[in-house]
Order: sequence, then structure tokens, then C-alpha cells
Amino acid sequence: MNVLILGSGGREHALAWKIAQSSLLHKLFIAPGNAGTMQVGTNLAINPTNFELVKQTVLENSIELVVVGPEDSLVKGIHDFFLNDATLKNVAVIGPQKYAAQLEGSKEFAKEFMVRHSIPTAAYKSFTTKNLEEGYQFLETLNPPYVLKADGLAAGKGVLILNNLEEAKDELTEMLTHQKFGEASSKVVIEEFLDGIELSCFVLTDGKSYVNLPNAKDYKRIGEGNVGLNTGGMGAISPVPFASTAFLKKIEEQVIKPTIEGLQKDDIPYKGFIFFGIIKVGDAPKVIEYNCRMGDPETEVVIPRVKSDFLELLIATGKNELHTKTIEFENKSACTVMLVSGGYPEAYKKEKVIFGLDKIENSIPFHAGTTIKENKIVTNGGRVIAVTSYGNNFKDALKQSYQNIDKISFEDMNFRKDIGFDL
Ligand code: AMP
Ligand code: GLY
Repeated sequence: MNVLILGSGGREHALAWKIAQSSLLHKLFIAPGNAGTMQVGTNLAINPTNFELVKQTVLENSIELVVVGPEDSLVKGIHDFFLNDATLKNVAVIGPQKYAAQLEGSKEFAKEFMVRHSIPTAAYKSFTTKNLEEGYQFLETLNPPYVLKADGLAAGKGVLILNNLEEAKDELTEMLTHQKFGEASSKVVIEEFLDGIELSCFVLTDGKSYVNLPNAKDYKRIGEGNVGLNTGGMGAISPVPFASTAFLKKIEEQVIKPTIEGLQKDDIPYKGFIFFGIIKVGDAPKVIEYNCRMGDPETEVVIPRVKSDFLELLIATGKNELHTKTIEFENKSACTVMLVSGGYPEAYKKEKVIFGLDKIENSIPFHAGTTIKENKIVTNGGRVIAVTSYGNNFKDALKQSYQNIDKISFEDMNFRKDIGFDL
């Protein structure tokens, strides 16, 4: 089978790396991909949100299965586009249709879904400019810190956590009246602050059955000790040591099963990944967010721990046959440490030559923001390379990644030396 992966980050390189190992694969394409994906498949220079170009590519290359990496193509309706096109409707798309992608694309939609299906989450109310005054009043009923979320997609920046009531009111005004996050903040969800430790769980589902993927914990802040600005993610480990069997069972019973059953009760078809952002409050799991895609850099530790043929699972998802499959995991831990460009997540430079990748031993460098220029691998994004390693536990795995990172360099390279520090 010919497969196309849409996207260009570390997540897509990890998916490509895994799918390339399948005996069921004929040809693998990645659009647009990066300097890493071209080592395991063929990169195609097209934008995944340009659906007409994706269509042309799929038809020209006899592609039978498309894995959609990032959320924006899903939220914009790429799966619906395929279903509504006579020449594409038999191509399997891994990633939900537009309506279901609102689980990620609209915080209010996700909250209403959770409430409807009794899935544990923070108490909330949503507001627009029309009831701004009520928003202020609601804030007054809460204890700090205050959690304000732009309803729509805001590139991971739409959540504000504020300690001061006046500041929270000002930010609410900024979001609603002055469109701080553009159209995404024309509605704002205000929710109860949950105090606990976070983890991410993932399933692959055909809408009826699902398989659990390994869980993971990522490190979102730029600075060591979890301080500073939020990033896409600076590192991750899998499995999460504090996620005991009993706690994972709670997640399965209280979150995962009710979500899959909820989709069926609501008549919402869903083929693809569901990413559950979970916070452990005491011993209780609560959902902070849904994403309709895999996480990045979580994929760079989750996928290496999948032993089974992943393409076989994706094909079964496309055919509604996931109930016939099981998934096996590697019994080892995995970690990844993200090498980023100096300045990221704010302004940073590109096209810096990356040295030392050929010296890496016993780690996998998943490329995130890289490209080829004058036959050299150069930086092409804020997050550049995710260095993944295995170990008997996450500490051993981290040791391995840090040893290899010592051999890699590019101008202004930055990374966190404390991944896993809180575990
Ligand atoms: P989200 O985009 O909804 O995942 O939120 C981004 C980050 O904000 C999460 O990863 C949490 O660290 C934090 N967060 C979101 N909602 C809450 C909440 N209700 N209580 C505490 N922290 C939260
Ligand atoms: N690492 C968090 C995310 O992918 O949303």
C-alpha cells in the first residue's frame, strides 16, 4: 500500500519511521516532511491545508491511506473533503472529520461533550462580548488562579492562568473585546483551576473500537524547572511512572470508554487518534483537553514503544476493523529531548548547519524543524531535533539521549537538561 503522511515535524518523522518498517508498505510519501522524513520516504513539497494539491498528489501516487499529522487540516475538514470527492472517497483518512475535530477546535464543544457524557473535567462557563459582565461576575465567584481559554485554535497559546482577579478581568476583556487571539478568542471558556500533575493518554479508534497507545508526559515550558513561556514541548517520557495500573484503569473507565461511547451516542463518526490531556487531582483523573491528533513530542516516545505493525493498525482503522486487532508495546522506557533554536518560542534564526547527527549511537534523532540546503542538514524551525532513546527506566533513557546530544551542535542550540526532574 502507498501511504501519505501530512505534516513536517518530529511527530511526522516518528510516524514515518514506524510506518516505513511495515511489510505492508509499498511507497511512503510525506508532505511536506523534513530532512529526516526523506531518509525513510519521499518528501513532496505541498502544503497540507491546500486540499486540491493534496488530492492531486494522492491520485498521482496511487495513495490508499493518508495519516493527518497536525490539527489544522482536520479542523479545516480534510477528511470531509475526501469523503465528498468521488475520486478520493475510498482513500482511508486517519484523522476525524471536521465536526468531530471540534473536540480540539472548540473548547466549548469539548466541554459540552464531556458534561453530556459525564466525563470528569473542570467546572466551567463560556462567555462572549454579549455577556462580558457575567464573565466578570463568574470570575468573582472563583478562587485564584483563574483559567481563561480561547475557544478556538490558538497555536497552543490560547490558555491564560492568572493569579490576580483584576488581571483576569483585564485579560478577559482583551480576549473578547480586543480579540487578543483573533477569532479564536471571540468566545472564552473560564474554568476551575485544577491542581495536579499532568499526563497524556492516546488511543487510535475507528469510532467503535480502540487500541490504547503508550502514555506519555511532556514538558511544555521553555525553562528548566517548568518556568518561562509555553512551547510545543521540550521533551517527553513514556511510560509515565506515576500512572499506576489502578490509575490507568480509572482513566480507561471514566474517560476513554465514555468518550468512545459518547461519540457513538452522539452519532459522531471518528477515525483517528484521540489525545487525552489529563491532570491527576489526588487520585482522580480529569480531562483538561482533547486533541484530535497525536502529540508532539509525545509521538517521539509513544511510537517507538509500539511493537506491533503500526500500518496494520491504521489499515484496520480505515476499514472499521480495529476490533480484530491488538497492540503490543516494548517493555522499555523511552524519552525524547528536544533541541531548539536559540530564542524559541519567540523569534529565532533558521538555516543553521547541524553538526554531529552522524555520530549518534543508540538514540534516534527525529527531525522536527530541519531541511536540506546546499547538501547540508540545516535548521528550519524552532524545534529542530528530538533525540529519542530507550532505557530500562526513564532515567537510563535520558542519560543516553544527553550523551548523544553532546555530539550534536548548531549555532544557538538550546535544550532542557532537566526532563523528568519532577518524577
Ligand atoms: P490546554 O490548551 O487546554 O491543554 O491548556 C494548556 C495548559 O494549561 C495545560 O497543559 C495545563 O498545564 C494548563 N491548564 C489548562 N486547564 C487547566 C485547569 N483547569 N487547571 C489547571 N491548569 C490548566
Ligand atoms: N505536546 C503537546 C501537544 O502536542 O499538544
